[in-house]
Amino acid sequence: MGKIILTGDRPTGRLHLGHYVGSLKRRVELMNSGEYEKIFIMIADAQALTDNFDNPGKIRENIIEVALDYLSCGLDPEKVNMFIQSQVAELTELTFYYMNLVTVSRLERNPTVKTEIKMRNFETSIPVGFFTYPVSQTSDITAFKATTVPVGEDQLPMLEQAREIVRKFNATYGEVLVEPEALIPENSVCCRLPGTDGKAKMSKSLGNCIYLSDTPDDIRQKVMNMYTDPNHIKVTDPGTVEGNSVFTYLDAFSKPSDFEKFCPDYANLDEMKEHYRRGGLGDVKVKKFLYNVIMQELEPIQARRKEYEKDIAGVYDILKKGTEAAKAEAAKTLAEVREAMQINYFDDEELIRSQQEKFEEKQ
Ligand code: TRP
Repeated sequence: MGKIILTGDRPTGRLHLGHYVGSLKRRVELMNSGEYEKIFIMIADAQALTDNFDNPGKIRENIIEVALDYLSCGLDPEKVNMFIQSQVAELTELTFYYMNLVTVSRLERNPTVKTEIKMRNFETSIPVGFFTYPVSQTSDITAFKATTVPVGEDQLPMLEQAREIVRKFNATYGEVLVEPEALIPENSVCCRLPGTDGKAKMSKSLGNCIYLSDTPDDIRQKVMNMYTDPNHIKVTDPGTVEGNSVFTYLDAFSKPSDFEKFCPDYANLDEMKEHYRRGGLGDVKVKKFLYNVIMQELEPIQARRKEYEKDIAGVYDILKKGTEAAKAEAAKTLAEVREAMQINYFDDEELIRSQQEKFEEKQ
């Protein structure tokens, strides 16, 4: 059997550079690798509602933003199947059955859930839906018999949980489900792009993101205000590149050819870093270079977005078709699950016959 990818994002906002280097760019590469038989990319609106249940408008608005970000990054609807989670009811049904295969204490031990409960001040009162979202995520993955789940490191506990549920299901009811594997970014810079303020992670709530769909002016301003080395005050001062967001971004984005094009004083990033360390290289010069490098990467993405933005009905149609195909796929797995769990009453003629015999024997 060929390899199958499933991955997704919660539609709580537009996607940013952190998403791009951490996952979107990789997805396009995986799509073009030809190694995967099927690729499903899911907009996880039902999961987003587990901690935004009182703000459905936000989720509704952001579905189209996320879809536009996917398409503009080069995900091709002919090659990947993009769909909306909540419209595939089969996923919810699977979740209900999988809930029997996991304990409350096991969910409580999930490190991602633990951190998220703290972040959301859910400690004293956790909505059950939120608490069980790892089970729902297992449904997302297994419904498509995904072998491969490209995600960030923070999702590893989710994958471990999914694998446990799969093993438990298969041991209890027979081999139906496929044990998935996580595919983590290789490059450490790509695992986590810091915020423009130098904080560990780009995050909407911290307001330190550069969005893929920001205007060039916004991006220039965000780059110019970026966190660097706080002790690098005068141009002549020696500077530190470690923990300096501008250089971390250059690690993630710049190529030697960018120097020739935008900053020919240096042959490559190492030379630029060396000068910064020595002193004599000002932040403004490095930031201008970074702006050019980022814009070069984003220009084709933004141009594609502009085209798709002209035909929003067409984008919803892509999602609708993707959702129909995803539903058909999930329904196949659900039928196998029901059969294995012996709850396929109306599809099983043998059941009716054998029950009849039982009652005849009694007569
Ligand atoms: N939890 C993921 C996130 O927050 C989104 C997601 C939902 C997902 N279901 C998934 C990712 C299944 C991979 C597989 O980013």
